[in-house]
Amino acid sequence: MEIREAIPDDNDALQFLQSKCPQGTDLVATAINTPDFFSRAKAYEMYKVYVACDGNQILGSTACGFKNVIVNGKIKLVGYGFQAFVAPESRRLGVASKLHQHREEYAAQQGASLFYTLVIEKNIPAMRYIERRGFYLYRTIIMPGLAIYKKMNTATEKQVRAAREEDLGALVALANKTWQNYEMHEPLSAEVLSSSIKRTPGYDIGNFLILEENGEILAFLGYLDWAQVMKITVDATSSKMKMMGVLLKFIGLFKLMPTMIKPGDTLEQIIVTLSGFNDPAHLSLLLKHLNNQMLEKGVDFLFCVCDPHNPMLKSLKGFVRIDTAINIYIKDLQKGKLDATKPVFISGVDM
Ligand SMILES: CC(C)(COP(=O)(O)OP(=O)(O)OC[C@H]1O[C@@H](n2cnc3c(N)ncnc32)[C@H](O)[C@@H]1OP(=O)(O)O)[C@@H](O)C(=O)NCCC(=O)NCCS
Repeated sequence: MEIREAIPDDNDALQFLQSKCPQGTDLVATAINTPDFFSRAKAYEMYKVYVACDGNQILGSTACGFKNVIVNGKIKLVGYGFQAFVAPESRRLGVASKLHQHREEYAAQQGASLFYTLVIEKNIPAMRYIERRGFYLYRTIIMPGLAIYKKMNTATEKQVRAAREEDLGALVALANKTWQNYEMHEPLSAEVLSSSIKRTPGYDIGNFLILEENGEILAFLGYLDWAQVMKITVDATSSKMKMMGVLLKFIGLFKLMPTMIKPGDTLEQIIVTLSGFNDPAHLSLLLKHLNNQMLEKGVDFLFCVCDPHNPMLKSLKGFVRIDTAINIYIKDLQKGKLDATKPVFISGVDM
Protein backbone atom coordinates (compact mmCIF):
# COMPACT_ATOMS: atom_id res chain seq x y z
CA MET A 1 0.00 0.00 0.00
CA GLU A 2 1.26 3.44 -0.94
CA ILE A 3 0.17 6.79 0.54
CA ARG A 4 0.41 9.79 -1.77
CA GLU A 5 -1.19 13.19 -2.16
CA ALA A 6 -4.44 13.16 -4.13
CA ILE A 7 -4.38 14.73 -7.57
CA PRO A 8 -7.27 16.29 -9.56
CA ASP A 9 -7.47 13.11 -11.72
CA ASP A 10 -8.50 11.15 -8.57
CA ASN A 11 -11.72 13.20 -8.37
CA ASP A 12 -14.17 10.65 -9.79
CA ALA A 13 -12.66 7.63 -8.04
CA LEU A 14 -12.77 9.47 -4.70
CA GLN A 15 -16.39 10.51 -5.16
CA PHE A 16 -17.29 6.92 -6.08
CA LEU A 17 -15.50 5.61 -2.99
CA GLN A 18 -17.27 8.17 -0.78
CA SER A 19 -20.59 6.85 -2.10
CA LYS A 20 -19.63 3.43 -0.66
CA CYS A 21 -18.73 4.81 2.78
CA PRO A 22 -21.76 5.87 4.81
CA GLN A 23 -20.86 7.28 8.25
CA GLY A 24 -22.39 6.48 11.62
CA THR A 25 -24.16 3.60 13.31
CA ASP A 26 -27.36 5.27 14.60
CA LEU A 27 -27.83 8.19 12.25
CA VAL A 28 -26.26 6.89 9.03
CA ALA A 29 -25.55 9.33 6.19
CA THR A 30 -23.49 9.36 3.02
CA ALA A 31 -21.69 12.57 2.10
CA ILE A 32 -20.24 12.97 -1.38
CA ASN A 33 -18.19 16.08 -2.10
CA THR A 34 -19.79 17.39 -5.23
CA PRO A 35 -19.33 18.76 -7.84
CA ASP A 36 -15.64 18.98 -6.88
CA PHE A 37 -14.19 16.40 -4.46
CA PHE A 38 -11.56 18.93 -3.36
CA SER A 39 -14.03 21.74 -2.62
CA ARG A 40 -14.22 20.99 1.10
CA ALA A 41 -10.46 21.10 1.57
CA LYS A 42 -10.27 24.41 -0.31
CA ALA A 43 -11.90 26.11 2.69
CA TYR A 44 -8.45 25.99 4.35
CA GLU A 45 -5.64 28.26 3.26
CA MET A 46 -3.24 25.37 3.79
CA TYR A 47 -4.45 21.79 3.26
CA LYS A 48 -3.45 18.30 2.13
CA VAL A 49 -5.60 15.50 0.74
CA TYR A 50 -4.05 12.03 0.89
CA VAL A 51 -5.01 8.76 -0.76
CA ALA A 52 -4.00 5.20 0.06
CA CYS A 53 -3.50 3.12 -3.10
CA ASP A 54 -2.87 -0.43 -4.09
CA GLY A 55 -1.61 -0.04 -7.67
CA ASN A 56 -4.26 1.98 -9.49
CA GLN A 57 -6.91 1.26 -6.92
CA ILE A 58 -7.73 3.86 -4.25
CA LEU A 59 -8.43 2.17 -0.90
CA GLY A 60 -9.11 5.23 1.20
CA SER A 61 -8.51 8.91 1.69
CA THR A 62 -8.18 11.59 4.32
CA ALA A 63 -7.47 15.31 4.54
CA CYS A 64 -6.17 17.99 6.85
CA GLY A 65 -6.32 21.76 7.02
CA PHE A 66 -4.60 24.32 9.21
CA LYS A 67 -5.49 27.50 11.04
CA ASN A 68 -4.25 29.81 13.78
CA VAL A 69 -6.48 29.59 16.83
CA ILE A 70 -6.45 30.34 20.56
CA VAL A 71 -4.84 27.53 22.57
CA ASN A 72 -4.71 28.29 26.28
CA GLY A 73 -4.70 32.04 25.69
CA LYS A 74 -2.03 32.03 22.95
CA ILE A 75 -2.46 31.98 19.17
CA LYS A 76 -1.12 28.72 17.78
CA LEU A 77 -1.19 26.80 14.52
CA VAL A 78 -3.40 23.72 14.75
CA GLY A 79 -4.13 20.90 12.32
CA TYR A 80 -7.66 19.70 11.63
CA GLY A 81 -8.27 16.20 10.26
CA PHE A 82 -11.40 15.46 8.25
CA GLN A 83 -12.80 13.34 5.42
CA ALA A 84 -11.44 9.95 6.51
CA PHE A 85 -12.97 7.01 4.64
CA VAL A 86 -11.79 3.56 3.65
CA ALA A 87 -13.37 1.12 1.18
CA PRO A 88 -15.51 -1.38 3.17
CA GLU A 89 -13.48 -4.36 1.88
CA SER A 90 -10.19 -2.75 3.02
CA ARG A 91 -11.17 -1.93 6.60
CA ARG A 92 -9.37 -3.11 9.75
CA LEU A 93 -6.15 -3.42 7.78
CA GLY A 94 -4.60 -0.21 9.09
CA VAL A 95 -5.41 1.91 6.00
CA ALA A 96 -6.97 4.82 7.95
CA SER A 97 -4.18 4.60 10.53
CA LYS A 98 -1.49 4.93 7.84
CA LEU A 99 -3.35 7.82 6.21
CA HIS A 100 -3.60 9.55 9.57
CA GLN A 101 0.08 9.04 10.29
CA HIS A 102 0.90 11.03 7.12
CA ARG A 103 -1.31 13.98 7.98
CA GLU A 104 -0.11 14.05 11.58
CA GLU A 105 3.53 13.99 10.51
CA TYR A 106 2.84 16.80 8.08
CA ALA A 107 1.13 18.80 10.86
CA ALA A 108 4.10 18.25 13.17
CA GLN A 109 6.48 19.45 10.40
CA GLN A 110 4.41 22.63 10.04
CA GLY A 111 4.83 23.25 13.78
CA ALA A 112 1.18 22.61 14.71
CA SER A 113 0.70 22.56 18.46
CA LEU A 114 -2.18 20.10 18.31
CA PHE A 115 -4.28 18.09 15.90
CA TYR A 116 -8.05 17.83 16.23
CA THR A 117 -10.85 15.95 14.56
CA LEU A 118 -14.64 15.85 14.93
CA VAL A 119 -16.65 12.66 15.19
CA ILE A 120 -20.44 12.56 15.13
CA GLU A 121 -22.13 10.77 18.06
CA LYS A 122 -22.22 6.99 17.90
CA ASN A 123 -19.78 6.69 14.98
CA ILE A 124 -18.04 3.92 16.92
CA PRO A 125 -15.49 2.80 14.26
CA ALA A 126 -14.30 6.40 13.82
CA MET A 127 -14.05 6.97 17.59
CA ARG A 128 -12.11 3.75 18.19
CA TYR A 129 -9.78 4.42 15.28
CA ILE A 130 -8.93 7.95 16.40
CA GLU A 131 -8.50 6.87 20.03
CA ARG A 132 -6.05 4.21 18.82
CA ARG A 133 -4.05 7.03 17.22
CA GLY A 134 -3.56 8.59 20.67
CA PHE A 135 -6.37 11.19 20.65
CA TYR A 136 -8.44 12.03 23.73
CA LEU A 137 -12.02 13.23 23.90
CA TYR A 138 -11.72 16.93 24.76
CA ARG A 139 -15.37 17.99 24.66
CA THR A 140 -18.75 16.97 23.30
CA ILE A 141 -20.47 19.88 21.63
CA ILE A 142 -23.95 20.29 20.16
CA MET A 143 -25.03 20.65 16.57
CA PRO A 144 -28.65 21.85 16.66
CA GLY A 145 -30.47 21.26 13.37
CA LEU A 146 -33.31 23.75 12.97
CA ALA A 147 -36.13 22.59 10.72
CA ILE A 148 -37.10 25.16 8.09
CA TYR A 149 -40.79 24.67 7.42
CA LYS A 150 -42.69 27.88 8.16
CA LYS A 151 -42.23 31.62 7.99
CA MET A 152 -41.16 33.14 11.30
CA ASN A 153 -42.03 36.50 12.78
CA THR A 154 -39.21 38.99 12.19
CA ALA A 155 -41.03 42.26 12.95
CA THR A 156 -38.48 44.80 14.25
CA GLU A 157 -37.63 48.49 14.13
CA LYS A 158 -34.04 47.49 13.46
CA GLN A 159 -32.63 47.00 9.99
CA VAL A 160 -31.53 43.66 8.55
CA ARG A 161 -29.33 43.63 5.46
CA ALA A 162 -26.71 41.56 3.66
CA ALA A 163 -23.09 42.46 4.44
CA ARG A 164 -20.81 44.23 2.00
CA GLU A 165 -17.03 44.12 1.66
CA GLU A 166 -16.68 47.39 3.65
CA ASP A 167 -18.42 45.80 6.68
CA LEU A 168 -15.72 43.15 7.16
CA GLY A 169 -13.69 45.22 9.66
CA ALA A 170 -16.73 45.74 11.92
CA LEU A 171 -17.78 42.09 11.59
CA VAL A 172 -14.42 40.66 12.63
CA ALA A 173 -14.21 43.14 15.55
CA LEU A 174 -17.60 41.92 16.81
CA ALA A 175 -16.75 38.22 16.23
CA ASN A 176 -13.38 38.56 17.98
CA LYS A 177 -15.08 40.22 20.97
CA THR A 178 -17.89 37.63 21.14
CA TRP A 179 -15.56 34.61 21.07
CA GLN A 180 -12.44 36.03 22.77
CA ASN A 181 -12.70 33.68 25.73
CA TYR A 182 -13.30 30.58 23.61
CA GLU A 183 -10.58 28.01 23.07
CA MET A 184 -9.91 27.26 19.39
CA HIS A 185 -11.42 30.50 18.14
CA GLU A 186 -9.50 31.87 15.18
CA PRO A 187 -8.97 35.61 15.82
CA LEU A 188 -9.77 37.23 12.48
CA SER A 189 -8.74 40.29 10.52
CA ALA A 190 -10.84 41.66 7.65
CA GLU A 191 -8.23 40.28 5.21
CA VAL A 192 -8.27 36.77 6.72
CA LEU A 193 -12.09 36.61 6.65
CA SER A 194 -12.21 38.03 3.13
CA SER A 195 -9.78 35.43 1.76
CA SER A 196 -11.60 32.64 3.63
CA ILE A 197 -14.87 33.71 1.97
CA LYS A 198 -13.23 33.92 -1.47
CA ARG A 199 -11.56 30.51 -1.42
CA THR A 200 -14.48 28.55 0.11
CA PRO A 201 -17.03 27.19 -2.39
CA GLY A 202 -20.61 28.07 -1.39
CA TYR A 203 -19.48 31.09 0.65
CA ASP A 204 -20.00 34.74 -0.25
CA ILE A 205 -20.02 38.10 1.52
CA GLY A 206 -23.78 38.13 0.72
CA ASN A 207 -24.11 35.07 3.02
CA PHE A 208 -23.54 37.37 6.00
CA LEU A 209 -26.66 38.97 7.48
CA ILE A 210 -26.33 42.06 9.63
CA LEU A 211 -28.70 43.51 12.23
CA GLU A 212 -28.21 47.25 12.51
CA GLU A 213 -29.61 50.15 14.52
CA ASN A 214 -28.66 53.77 13.79
CA GLY A 215 -25.62 52.58 11.83
CA GLU A 216 -24.38 50.34 14.68
CA ILE A 217 -23.99 46.61 13.97
CA LEU A 218 -25.76 44.79 16.80
CA ALA A 219 -25.31 41.24 15.48
CA PHE A 220 -24.32 39.31 12.39
CA LEU A 221 -24.27 35.77 11.17
CA GLY A 222 -22.64 34.07 8.21
CA TYR A 223 -23.68 30.76 6.66
CA LEU A 224 -22.36 28.24 4.19
CA ASP A 225 -24.52 26.46 1.66
CA TRP A 226 -23.56 22.78 2.04
CA ALA A 227 -25.42 21.81 -1.12
CA GLN A 228 -22.74 23.61 -3.15
CA VAL A 229 -19.98 21.50 -1.59
CA MET A 230 -21.51 18.10 -0.86
CA LYS A 231 -24.52 15.91 -1.39
CA ILE A 232 -25.73 14.36 1.86
CA THR A 233 -28.14 11.42 1.72
CA VAL A 234 -29.68 9.89 4.83
CA ASP A 235 -29.35 6.08 4.89
CA ALA A 236 -30.90 5.53 8.34
CA THR A 237 -32.39 7.95 10.85
CA SER A 238 -31.31 7.95 14.51
CA SER A 239 -33.54 6.62 17.28
CA LYS A 240 -33.86 10.25 18.48
CA MET A 241 -35.12 11.29 15.04
CA LYS A 242 -37.58 8.42 14.89
CA MET A 243 -39.06 9.42 18.26
CA MET A 244 -39.18 13.06 17.19
CA GLY A 245 -40.92 12.00 13.94
CA VAL A 246 -43.72 10.34 15.91
CA LEU A 247 -44.09 13.40 18.14
CA LEU A 248 -44.15 15.81 15.20
CA LYS A 249 -46.76 13.72 13.42
CA PHE A 250 -48.97 13.88 16.49
CA ILE A 251 -48.55 17.64 17.06
CA GLY A 252 -48.99 18.05 13.29
CA LEU A 253 -52.62 17.03 13.71
CA PHE A 254 -53.19 20.37 15.44
CA LYS A 255 -50.68 22.79 13.88
CA LEU A 256 -48.15 23.10 11.09
CA MET A 257 -45.07 20.97 11.85
CA PRO A 258 -42.08 19.86 9.76
CA THR A 259 -42.04 16.33 8.37
CA MET A 260 -39.19 14.25 9.77
CA ILE A 261 -36.25 13.18 7.60
CA LYS A 262 -36.55 9.64 6.28
CA PRO A 263 -34.06 7.20 4.76
CA GLY A 264 -33.34 8.06 1.13
CA ASP A 265 -33.80 11.83 1.63
CA THR A 266 -31.16 14.10 0.18
CA LEU A 267 -30.90 17.08 2.44
CA GLU A 268 -30.71 20.71 1.48
CA GLN A 269 -28.94 22.31 4.40
CA ILE A 270 -26.96 25.34 5.42
CA ILE A 271 -24.69 25.84 8.40
CA VAL A 272 -23.90 28.92 10.45
CA THR A 273 -20.17 29.53 10.14
CA LEU A 274 -19.48 32.64 12.17
CA SER A 275 -21.52 35.07 14.21
CA GLY A 276 -21.06 38.03 16.51
CA PHE A 277 -23.53 39.50 18.99
CA ASN A 278 -23.92 40.90 22.47
CA ASP A 279 -27.54 39.93 22.97
CA PRO A 280 -28.75 36.43 21.90
CA ALA A 281 -32.16 38.02 21.09
CA HIS A 282 -30.44 39.91 18.25
CA LEU A 283 -28.94 36.72 16.87
CA SER A 284 -32.34 35.06 17.17
CA LEU A 285 -33.84 37.73 14.93
CA LEU A 286 -31.18 37.07 12.29
CA LEU A 287 -31.72 33.32 12.47
CA LYS A 288 -35.43 33.89 11.86
CA HIS A 289 -34.63 36.11 8.88
CA LEU A 290 -32.36 33.44 7.50
CA ASN A 291 -35.11 30.85 8.09
CA ASN A 292 -37.49 32.93 5.97
CA GLN A 293 -34.96 33.40 3.17
CA MET A 294 -34.13 29.70 3.08
CA LEU A 295 -37.78 28.64 3.21
CA GLU A 296 -38.22 30.27 -0.20
CA LYS A 297 -35.16 28.42 -1.53
CA GLY A 298 -36.43 25.01 -0.36
CA VAL A 299 -33.68 24.46 2.24
CA ASP A 300 -34.68 21.82 4.85
CA PHE A 301 -32.32 22.50 7.76
CA LEU A 302 -30.25 25.25 9.28
CA PHE A 303 -27.42 23.88 11.42
CA CYS A 304 -25.37 25.59 14.10
CA VAL A 305 -22.48 24.18 16.06
CA CYS A 306 -21.96 25.23 19.67
CA ASP A 307 -20.25 24.51 22.94
CA PRO A 308 -22.90 23.64 25.58
CA HIS A 309 -22.17 27.05 27.19
CA ASN A 310 -22.49 29.02 23.96
CA PRO A 311 -25.12 31.80 24.42
CA MET A 312 -26.20 31.08 20.84
CA LEU A 313 -28.26 28.24 22.30
CA LYS A 314 -30.45 30.92 23.90
CA SER A 315 -31.29 32.22 20.40
CA LEU A 316 -33.07 29.09 19.23
CA LYS A 317 -36.44 29.49 20.95
CA GLY A 318 -39.35 29.02 18.55
CA PHE A 319 -37.47 26.63 16.26
CA VAL A 320 -38.19 22.90 15.99
CA ARG A 321 -34.74 21.54 16.67
CA ILE A 322 -32.96 18.19 16.59
CA ASP A 323 -29.60 18.12 18.34
CA THR A 324 -26.70 15.94 17.27
CA ALA A 325 -23.69 15.51 19.56
CA ILE A 326 -20.24 16.08 18.05
CA ASN A 327 -17.13 14.80 19.79
CA ILE A 328 -13.96 16.86 19.58
CA TYR A 329 -10.89 14.62 19.73
CA ILE A 330 -7.48 16.16 20.35
CA LYS A 331 -3.90 15.02 20.13
CA ASP A 332 -1.29 17.35 21.58
CA LEU A 333 1.75 17.64 19.34
CA GLN A 334 3.52 20.15 21.56
CA LYS A 335 3.35 21.32 25.17
CA GLY A 336 0.54 23.76 26.06
CA LYS A 337 -2.76 21.96 26.28
CA LEU A 338 -6.16 23.49 25.63
CA ASP A 339 -7.77 25.00 28.72
CA ALA A 340 -10.40 22.46 29.74
CA THR A 341 -12.31 25.01 31.85
CA LYS A 342 -13.14 27.32 28.94
CA PRO A 343 -15.83 26.95 26.28
CA VAL A 344 -14.67 25.93 22.83
CA PHE A 345 -15.40 27.45 19.43
CA ILE A 346 -15.77 25.29 16.32
CA SER A 347 -16.47 27.02 13.02
CA GLY A 348 -19.32 25.68 10.90
CA VAL A 349 -16.79 25.52 8.05
CA ASP A 350 -15.18 22.51 9.79
CA MET A 351 -18.36 20.44 9.78
C1 LIG B 1 -13.46 4.92 10.46
C2 LIG B 1 -12.70 4.25 9.30
C3 LIG B 1 -12.09 5.37 8.43
C4 LIG B 1 -11.58 3.36 9.88
O1 LIG B 1 -10.82 2.86 8.81
P1 LIG B 1 -9.90 1.51 8.91
O2 LIG B 1 -8.92 1.58 7.80
O3 LIG B 1 -10.77 0.33 9.02
O4 LIG B 1 -9.16 1.75 10.30
P2 LIG B 1 -7.84 0.99 10.80
O5 LIG B 1 -7.75 -0.36 10.15
O6 LIG B 1 -6.69 1.89 10.66
O7 LIG B 1 -8.23 0.79 12.33
C5 LIG B 1 -7.37 1.11 13.40
C6 LIG B 1 -8.02 0.74 14.70
O8 LIG B 1 -9.24 1.44 14.89
C7 LIG B 1 -10.18 0.61 15.60
N1 LIG B 1 -11.34 0.31 14.72
C8 LIG B 1 -11.44 0.55 13.40
N2 LIG B 1 -12.66 0.15 12.96
C9 LIG B 1 -13.32 -0.34 14.03
C10 LIG B 1 -14.62 -0.89 14.22
N3 LIG B 1 -15.47 -1.04 13.18
N4 LIG B 1 -14.98 -1.26 15.46
C11 LIG B 1 -14.14 -1.11 16.51
N5 LIG B 1 -12.87 -0.62 16.38
C12 LIG B 1 -12.49 -0.22 15.17
C13 LIG B 1 -9.45 -0.67 15.92
O9 LIG B 1 -8.81 -0.49 17.16
C14 LIG B 1 -8.43 -0.74 14.81
O10 LIG B 1 -7.32 -1.50 15.13
P3 LIG B 1 -7.39 -3.12 14.99
O11 LIG B 1 -8.02 -3.42 13.65
O12 LIG B 1 -5.96 -3.53 15.09
O13 LIG B 1 -8.23 -3.59 16.13
C15 LIG B 1 -13.65 3.36 8.43
O14 LIG B 1 -14.38 2.52 9.28
C16 LIG B 1 -14.63 4.11 7.56
O15 LIG B 1 -14.32 4.46 6.41
N6 LIG B 1 -15.85 4.40 8.07
C17 LIG B 1 -16.87 5.07 7.29
C18 LIG B 1 -16.56 6.57 7.12
C19 LIG B 1 -16.38 7.26 8.47
O16 LIG B 1 -17.14 7.08 9.39
N7 LIG B 1 -15.34 8.10 8.55
C20 LIG B 1 -15.01 8.81 9.77
C21 LIG B 1 -15.61 10.15 9.77
S1 LIG B 1 -15.20 11.02 11.25
